[in-house]
Amino acid sequence: MKKRTIALVCAAVMGLTMASCGPKVSTPQEDASTQAASSNETDVTTTPQEGEQHPSPEDCEALKDLYKDYFDIGTCISATMIKNKTYYDFILKNFSSVTCENNMKPEAMMNRYETQHGDMTDGGTRIVLNMENMRKELDFASQNGLKMRGHVFVWHEQTPDWIFYVNFDPEGELAGRELMLTRLENYMKDVFSWVEENYPGLFYAWDIANECMGDNNKMRDSLWYKTIGEDYVEQVFALARKYAPDYIKLFYNDYNESVPAKRTAIIKMLKPVAEAGNLDGMGMQAHLNSTNTVKSVVDSVRIYEKELGVTVHITELDYAQPKSADPETAQAQYYGQLFKELKALKDEGVAIESVTFWGINDGLSWRKDENPLLFNKDMTPKKAYYAVIDAAKN
Ligand code: GLA
Repeated sequence: MKKRTIALVCAAVMGLTMASCGPKVSTPQEDASTQAASSNETDVTTTPQEGEQHPSPEDCEALKDLYKDYFDIGTCISATMIKNKTYYDFILKNFSSVTCENNMKPEAMMNRYETQHGDMTDGGTRIVLNMENMRKELDFASQNGLKMRGHVFVWHEQTPDWIFYVNFDPEGELAGRELMLTRLENYMKDVFSWVEENYPGLFYAWDIANECMGDNNKMRDSLWYKTIGEDYVEQVFALARKYAPDYIKLFYNDYNESVPAKRTAIIKMLKPVAEAGNLDGMGMQAHLNSTNTVKSVVDSVRIYEKELGVTVHITELDYAQPKSADPETAQAQYYGQLFKELKALKDEGVAIESVTFWGINDGLSWRKDENPLLFNKDMTPKKAYYAVIDAAKN
């Protein structure tokens, strides 16, 4: 069944792909009843002709190699993913950059018990960290020569509330600005020194702050904002600059970043950070759907680079399968167009360095109901996969 699905999808996109993949595999002709055997198969509109040859993903060039003259190609990873041999091999073949999906988020690296039982004489200035949760992913990357994006220091989600309170007591009083700045400074210092000691050179970029702009185009009223004040983003980046090894680029990261009003607000918020020399990159999450045109995404890359004078990474790419008569083809067209235009941007001299997918297949995706990635949950390729391959060639 798996092979047959691959063959049918390959056939549908063969015109696009024949030039892009290596040794080809012959496929028997399929009849209409086998095409209707699964929902994935019913999307396929072209039946392969007898004698036609179709590439399988194993025979296609690696995504990272196809785009090596343009940008790194990345994915998020989890410890569970890399325990699976199929995913492990697939990631090593196709990607040059990885990001921890969850294990470098604040809640994964902060130890509540140890912190609350630590020295409280000054209200507690040090959050005790547990860096072991991220070990498996960091070992995987460092042992296999992958680069990593760090994700994420300061965010309103997946961050425990108790870090914002005097004595780390969430029943008590909110911490004031000076106390939170000291905690932040210790947090930055401790994370970067651990990373530098244990994995020197592994990280090339780090999302220092995530989603600080609200969808109302005003700074999000998070506990970071409440405790430190409206310059907290500037403070966070100044501390990151002080403690990060100089080979790690400091990024701001956000979603709905291609919506013009939010983009303008993000740029306004980041200007002082950039002017202080503390911002190296803009992370465009690119959680996309049919309301986001390719043009709006590509224009945004250009605008962030120009307005802030920084490099741009696409950090969490996924595009919901649009509602249309042939959603899989429509999705493939979008991905193909997007990658062609990102390449063209690079040819123009725009500093886009890295494009990371937020996962490797629809079943593992946080948006699994929207089928937003290049592979089905059984790792059979979708048309979008071949469209991305084809865009590299044209
Ligand atoms: C945001 C975060 C990611 C991830 C997604 C949902 O985009 O930056 O780390 O949590 O939400 O999975």
